[in-house]
Amino acid sequence: MQRRNLLKTIGMAVGGYSVSASASGFSLAPKRILRIAHLTDIHVQPHLWAAKGFEKCLHHLQNLEVKPDLILNTGDSVMGSSGISKEKAAREWALYHKVLGSENSIPMVSCIGNHDIWCPPTGSFSEGKKWAMDESGTAGSYRSFDKNGWHIILLDSIHCRPEGTGYYARLDEAQMDWLKKDLNNTPSHTPVLVASHIPILSASVFFDGDNLKNNQWVVPGSWMHTDSAQILGLFNRHDNVKLAVSGHIHLLDRVVYNSVTYCCNGAVSGNYWMGKYKQTSPGYAIIDLFEDGSFSNQYVNYH
Ligand SMILES: [Fe+2]
Repeated sequence: MQRRNLLKTIGMAVGGYSVSASASGFSLAPKRILRIAHLTDIHVQPHLWAAKGFEKCLHHLQNLEVKPDLILNTGDSVMGSSGISKEKAAREWALYHKVLGSENSIPMVSCIGNHDIWCPPTGSFSEGKKWAMDESGTAGSYRSFDKNGWHIILLDSIHCRPEGTGYYARLDEAQMDWLKKDLNNTPSHTPVLVASHIPILSASVFFDGDNLKNNQWVVPGSWMHTDSAQILGLFNRHDNVKLAVSGHIHLLDRVVYNSVTYCCNGAVSGNYWMGKYKQTSPGYAIIDLFEDGSFSNQYVNYH
């Protein structure tokens, strides 16, 4: 029997694991069941080579030796910004869809980012959130689904400030209740990946500006979830929650707290299409999810 056929036969026999040969003999490695390309903070706009850059990123991930099964976009798909005209916002979304339509053949699921939400110079963004949901192809601003043995949860981080303008990061009461039920309804042997635009827990939020004021660390509520303690408490009761990924900061970090790994996965646009943002190059993450609930998260520079 040829070696390749032998490995194939053994691989089928052990099920759930792939077999590789090493100097010390055969070793069992968990079987990858889902490959996700995590794109965040694309910030498509009509200038600064944004559309070309997005195209390059899509080509890069589709040309990988092992092509991703799914693109996970955690928001800020367009540049937007509060107070721009509806016409300008519509042109950005049209450009985003034009690039996606012609340059991508992989299914995509999306979270909503703050830049995706159009809002008038003064006033709330409820109309803009509905618009962002329509453009992102999602009926609700948060949802979950099962894919290849993993449960994937897409959260909506963006919450209108009580003053009626601007945003901060949290789940509202209805979303928190839904998340509790969703995790309760997920079998304990099913591993869970959570995605949000704004990080639930992040190290890079301490270095995204002048965070030290009067010898105190200050992290704005618009940079990291203000309800992290509640969410972490909930994750603590579900040890099948393995990985939580986000964007928003445009920086790259990984925090392991209790049994969950939190990855803030840079930005496709880097510094809003002007090169690196601090130490983080424009990129995207390849997330491999394995049958035994393990994962890998690797940031890829596509330039
Ligand atoms: Fe962003």
